[in-house]
Amino acid sequence: MKKLAVLTSGGDSPGMNAAIRAVVRTALHYDIEVYGVLRGYDGLMNGKMFKMDRRSVSNIIQKGGTILKTARSMDFKTIEGRMKAAKQLRDAGIEGLITIGGNGTFTGAQLFYQEHGFPVIGIPGTIDNDIFGSDYTIGYDTAVNTVLDAIDKIRDTADAHERVFFVEVMGRDTGYIAVQSAIAGGAEVAVIPEKDMTAEEIVAKLNQGGGPRGSHVIVVAEGHRPGRAVDIARDVGKQLPQIDTKVSILGHIQRGGSPTAADRILATILGVGAVEGILKGKTDVMVGVVNGELSYASLKDAITKEKPVKKELIRMIDIVNGRISV
Ligand code: F6P
Repeated sequence: MKKLAVLTSGGDSPGMNAAIRAVVRTALHYDIEVYGVLRGYDGLMNGKMFKMDRRSVSNIIQKGGTILKTARSMDFKTIEGRMKAAKQLRDAGIEGLITIGGNGTFTGAQLFYQEHGFPVIGIPGTIDNDIFGSDYTIGYDTAVNTVLDAIDKIRDTADAHERVFFVEVMGRDTGYIAVQSAIAGGAEVAVIPEKDMTAEEIVAKLNQGGGPRGSHVIVVAEGHRPGRAVDIARDVGKQLPQIDTKVSILGHIQRGGSPTAADRILATILGVGAVEGILKGKTDVMVGVVNGELSYASLKDAITKEKPVKKELIRMIDIVNGRISV
């Protein structure tokens, strides 16, 4: 293999730049030419690629976003779109593709491999941490710390006014961000997509120990419906008219910012692992870190297998943060 391409696709996540940097420098270390593809699969179909060198990834390890830009491509979901992309890569003499992204990115990559036999390796980059085959995904740790910083600040004002705050965080299919930030932020309840929780159940939790007193923080994962914390807060408020409810939707703040050390290190490990993997002939796989060890899962497993949030962590929120008794 003499030429590789790298792209970022889907929702961006802090640490994607660190991964691009690791891919580029590892490829150059092995005397492989490396091309950056702009705007994910859209750029790939339109041949938007440029040759990268060591300097093109200088001074980006600390930056959020992605220097390659990203997109959620509709055209790559079509057979014709993927054919166009394969032609672009072959015309440019590129022999392997590294895709950094989440579930949608890997679904496209897997189809691309099946239809064109083109060597492809995925690197998990999403703040949601919802990918099987890696204990952590790039950007997740940064997002949790961003949420934690917000919760700490919200607590100050919640305490001052003795209010109940519903803090909405990202997490489309899984409650990783919600659970982790609830534990670290001392939130009484985490409402996650995996387990629907009714207003009655939240009220029951708030009523434990003699009813809500002082300030409370409830973390709500947005799931597939951003803004759902507003509905939940309204329904809880109706049943507990004595409390003053407020909602804070953190939104895309969670996707930006300088990546934490953990995310930069993970991105570097996975970037090196992706290039070394593809050079050893691995394809149709995603590189990950499981129990501290580099590993490769099939793209099929990465997109179809579940990686549920540990029930033990949810139980701990109840024990340590919930109002069991006073
Ligand atoms: O997949 C990551 C994620 O941040 C989800 O948590 C969220 O539902 C979605 O992306 C939002 O995507 P977009 O910014 O493209 O609307």
